[in-house]
Amino acid sequence: MLIKRFRGVDFINRDKEIEFFLNYFNKNPERVMWIYGPKSTGKTTLIEYVIENYLLKEKSYNIKYLNFRRILISNFDSFIDSLLEEKDEETQTELNRSYNIFGLFQLEAKTLKKIKEHKKNLFNYLIEEFRKEKRKNILIIDEIQSLQDIYMNGDKKLLNEFLNFCVALTKETHLSHVLILTSNTIFLNEIYNNSKMKETSRFKLIDHLSYEDIKEWLISKKDLGFRVEDIDLIYEYLGGSATRIKKLIEEYKDFNSLKEYLENEIEITKNEIKFTFRELRKLNKEYLIEPFKEIIKDILTKGYSDKESKEIEEAIDFFCEKEILFFDPIKNTTTANSKIYVKAFERLLSDG
Ligand SMILES: Nc1ncnc2c1ncn2[C@@H]1O[C@H](COP(=O)(O)OP(=O)(O)O)[C@@H](O)[C@H]1O
Ligand SMILES: [Mg+2]
Repeated sequence: MLIKRFRGVDFINRDKEIEFFLNYFNKNPERVMWIYGPKSTGKTTLIEYVIENYLLKEKSYNIKYLNFRRILISNFDSFIDSLLEEKDEETQTELNRSYNIFGLFQLEAKTLKKIKEHKKNLFNYLIEEFRKEKRKNILIIDEIQSLQDIYMNGDKKLLNEFLNFCVALTKETHLSHVLILTSNTIFLNEIYNNSKMKETSRFKLIDHLSYEDIKEWLISKKDLGFRVEDIDLIYEYLGGSATRIKKLIEEYKDFNSLKEYLENEIEITKNEIKFTFRELRKLNKEYLIEPFKEIIKDILTKGYSDKESKEIEEAIDFFCEKEILFFDPIKNTTTANSKIYVKAFERLLSDG
C-alpha cells in the first residue's frame, strides 16, 4: 500500500526516496546533498516525514533541522539566534529539552556574546560542537536562499561562509551529513556553476508523483467515487502535483462537473501568467514576453526547452522566480512548474 498518513493527512508513496535517504544517512558524510525540484513537489514534507518517522526514532542520530521559511533571518544576529540558545538550567523543562534535539545548539552566555561580537567564529564553534557529539550528525537546511544578501562582518557574505562550513562538515572532516533543500533553481544554478561547490556536492531531484501513485491514491478514496476515466482526466490536467490534487478533492464539488473544475483551474493559471506579463510591462521588460513564448512553444512540442540566448535566459530567470517555469541546472533544461501550467500555455498560445 502506497498511502500513508502524516500529520493527519494523506502521504503518498515516496518509498524509493525514503529508502534513498536512509541508505544515504548510513554512509559516511562525503558531500553536501542538494535536494531540489519544482515548487510544491513535496521536498519539505518528505524530509520531515523521514525525520519524524525514522531518524528521530533511532537514538543514534543527532538531527539539526532548520527551515528558513519558518524563521525570519534579516541579519547575522537573527541567523545566530536561529542556531544558538543561551544555556539556562532553570528553565530547562523536559519538553524544551526534547524539542532542542531538533534545533538549537545550547551554549554559555559568555560564548554567545563573543560570537555575536565576532570575537569568536560561529562556524568554528559549531564544528567543535559536532565533533563532541557521539551520535551521527545530520544537518538539514530548508529554503537556504533566504541567506542570500546577508552579510556577517564587513563584506563577508553569510551564504558563502555557511557553504564553506557545509563543505568542512562533509568532505573535509566527515563530521556531519548536510542536506540542503531548495525550489529556487536559479540560486541552485549559481551553486552548480561554482566549481568548488560542484565538486563537493550531490544533487537529488524530487519530482511530482507518478500516474500510478495518483491512480492508487484516488481509487483508494472510495467516497469520491472517481472512475478510471475521471482519474485520467485529472492526471491530464494536474499531473502528479499532490498539492493540486488535494485542492481538487476539497473544491471540485462546488462545480457542476470535474471537467468544469479543471477548466477553471486552467483559466486561473492562465490569468496568473498574464498578470506576470503586466508586471513585465511595468518593469519595462516586455521584451521578455516573446522569448517566454518561444520557451513555452518548445515545451509544448518536446516537453522541455533547451533553447539558449541572453533573452531566453533572462526570461527563464524571471519566470522561474514566479514559479511558472522550472529550470533544472543538472539537465540544463526548462519545463513547466507543473502540468496545469502546460495546459495554461496551450490556452495562452491559442488565445493569441
Ligand atoms: N507525498 C505526498 N503525498 C501527499 N501530499 C503531499 C506529498 N508531498 C507533498 N504533499 C503536499 O503538497 C504540499 C506541498 O508540499 P511541500 O513539501 O511544501 O513542497 P516543497 O517543499 O517541495 O515546495 C503540501 O501541502 C503537502 O501536504
Ligand atoms: Mg519546501
